[in-house]
Amino acid sequence: MKEIKNVEYGLEKIFEGAQDFLPLLGTDYVELYVGNAKQAAHFYKTAFGFQSFAYKGLETGCREYASYVLKQDKIRLVLTTPLNSKSPINDHIVKHGDGVKVIALWVEDATKSWEETTKRGAKSFMKPTVEKDEHGEVVRSGIHTYGDTVHIFVERKNYNGVFLPGYKNWESDYNPEPTGLKFIDHMVGNVGWNEMNTWVKFYEDVLGFVNFLSFDDKQIHTEYSALMSKVMSNGNGRIKFPINEPAEGKKKSQIEEYLDFYEGPGAQHIAVATDDIITTVSKLRARGVEFLSTPPEEYYRAVPQRLQAHNHKLREDIKTLKGLGIMIDADEEGYLLQIFTKPVEDRPTLFFEIIQRMGARGFGAGNFKALFESIEREQEKRGTL
Ligand code: FE2
Repeated sequence: MKEIKNVEYGLEKIFEGAQDFLPLLGTDYVELYVGNAKQAAHFYKTAFGFQSFAYKGLETGCREYASYVLKQDKIRLVLTTPLNSKSPINDHIVKHGDGVKVIALWVEDATKSWEETTKRGAKSFMKPTVEKDEHGEVVRSGIHTYGDTVHIFVERKNYNGVFLPGYKNWESDYNPEPTGLKFIDHMVGNVGWNEMNTWVKFYEDVLGFVNFLSFDDKQIHTEYSALMSKVMSNGNGRIKFPINEPAEGKKKSQIEEYLDFYEGPGAQHIAVATDDIITTVSKLRARGVEFLSTPPEEYYRAVPQRLQAHNHKLREDIKTLKGLGIMIDADEEGYLLQIFTKPVEDRPTLFFEIIQRMGARGFGAGNFKALFESIEREQEKRGTL
């Protein structure tokens, strides 16, 4: 039996076939447009253990919107709210509710990133723009992706300020402890019926990504609903974007429910990595984060065999995992531990995944059935199944 090690900073791997015209250094930040950023920031600090990091708003001379930047290890979350009815940010919130607007990617050269991607067919969201303050300069540019979601390329090699020009340090007297969240492992997009392959091609052609895992509706289905998913990765494996589309089932799938309530395609979940999921989930639960219901007894009874089949031994105590509702999946290279929150807003749209990789590169395919049955129990309560 081989030793399984925790995987630090994702799964560095050079994917053959990935193009190098767009070197991506990592996720720079994720920005959500929300109805009340001040209150949302309080929630992410209190419940998830994010730390106050930077701020922009009336006090810094920005009269259009307020943005709170929260940080936990390598994760930067930006919460933005408009300050008047004319801001175009309102349109996003009216249509989608609170949700992810920007998945920002850290690059060496934001001008070249914009040129290379728009040349390959991306629709421009923001031309390369230099922003400056006394701490240096940042170049940002952006392109549209699925729905109203955008990617912004951030070049920060000539900047040593807190976050971006225009932001100041956000000092707060209220600083709840972190919960052990370390970096973004992957971010999933839900797209419309029969649109998955269009977006797979977009990530291949425009960003040079490769499709390294696929799941069809025969693998991902329950008695009632189904979906299809393809996982896209950039060359170094740091950026992974699974793309889901709904598939026909007896009843409405969770992807359809998302598309109905988000009123279009968008980011479905943000998976954040921890290297101690038991401690992290214990803390999150104690702070009021709501998770999907724990899989049934039979699920946990089958776990030892599922690991055995791949010659892996579980390091964690299975009773503890079960007590916290954490799921386990295994592949050739190792296993992973994961759990999903309920949606973090009233519309059943965006949620979080907490993941600890013990060698496995997958996304928990072995858990899909148990997971979807759990989601369906929630859909049933919402009357949207
Ligand atoms: Fe995931």
